Amino acid sequence: MYTHIAGIGSAVPSRILTNDDLSKMVDTSDEWIVSHTGIRQRHIVSPEDSAATLGCEAARRALSDAGVDPEELGGIIVTSTTPDYAVYPSTACVIQGMLGAKNASAFDLSAACPGFVYGLSVAHGMMQLDPRPMLVVSTEVMSRTIDWTDRNTCCLFGDGAGAAVLKNSEEPGGLGFHIIGADGTGARALYREGGVRTEETARNAPGALHMDGRAVFNFAVRSFCELVTKSFEHYGYTEKDYAWVVPHQANTRIIDAAVKRIDVPVGKFYVNIQNFANTSSASIPIALDEMQRNGVLKRGDRIILVAFGAGLVYGGITVEWTK
Ligand code: UT7
Repeated sequence: MYTHIAGIGSAVPSRILTNDDLSKMVDTSDEWIVSHTGIRQRHIVSPEDSAATLGCEAARRALSDAGVDPEELGGIIVTSTTPDYAVYPSTACVIQGMLGAKNASAFDLSAACPGFVYGLSVAHGMMQLDPRPMLVVSTEVMSRTIDWTDRNTCCLFGDGAGAAVLKNSEEPGGLGFHIIGADGTGARALYREGGVRTEETARNAPGALHMDGRAVFNFAVRSFCELVTKSFEHYGYTEKDYAWVVPHQANTRIIDAAVKRIDVPVGKFYVNIQNFANTSSASIPIALDEMQRNGVLKRGDRIILVAFGAGLVYGGITVEWTK
């Protein structure tokens, strides 16, 4: 039995914040942001929306793309670093209710930016036990976690959601080799308080995210190269066997650094960070949806999804596109 991506969808808020807009808020410039990150603009959530509403919209589009009714779903996994509620209910439960997916289990999976890759891996495993379709939703309202006076982080992130519907079938293809891992010794390289770690953190509001950009950058390049190389080795393939590498959209300089270390031409990396900035776990499904809508992805294409982020965690998965 093979597990396929049968439907894909995304939803991004209509409001756009450009680098020039940002340069009126903090001491930065379009030139600095583009040359250090590749980002030109980001989408910002409206006051009425949240991770659940954006995620629900992306999910509806993915379900329609797959031709799957919400009641057919066996499970919903949501990945978000910006859930509607700090602890419970899970955003997956909120979305399950909005969709009317009354037969689906629902839970949130915490794996920061690689959440979508982790979600695909876990859903794939669950579908060996229960073959009903599953929905993976990655949805982020990063703009609500940012210190808008901190130029080191406020230019990097954006809001949006992406979703995939997975279906089992006898047809070869779909999800392939996957590798997920973590290095918890880097837990403080990227974090946001708000848990009950201490009396103080339990009582205070979560506050903004904190990041050691250099440490995350180095981890990202290292894990990026390792994930791509291991995916090649697993099948005995080279870059010629893959149509695309779709990386977590964090910084074009991470891709440039990886290209110097692995044998993949830069043109094989799909990049749309210029329009969306870093949307954490939503960045890969937003990219996949864009690729499908623009005819970039063709049936039979082999692609590799790679991601890294807070934890520190990493995840990679190969997919043979069968839509
Ligand atoms: O999803 C995973 C999440 N995170 C990441 O992937 C982030 C990975 N890291 C990065 O992408 C990069 O490390 C950054 C883009 C965050 C920073 O780039 P950098 O080249 O590592 O810059 P830096 O932190 O070493 O800072 C260099 C200088 C500093 O000024 P001084 O101290 O040398 O005077 C910063 O204050 O650049 C300054 N700077 C800025 N200047 C203008 C930092 N942010 C800005 C800014 N505009 N927005």
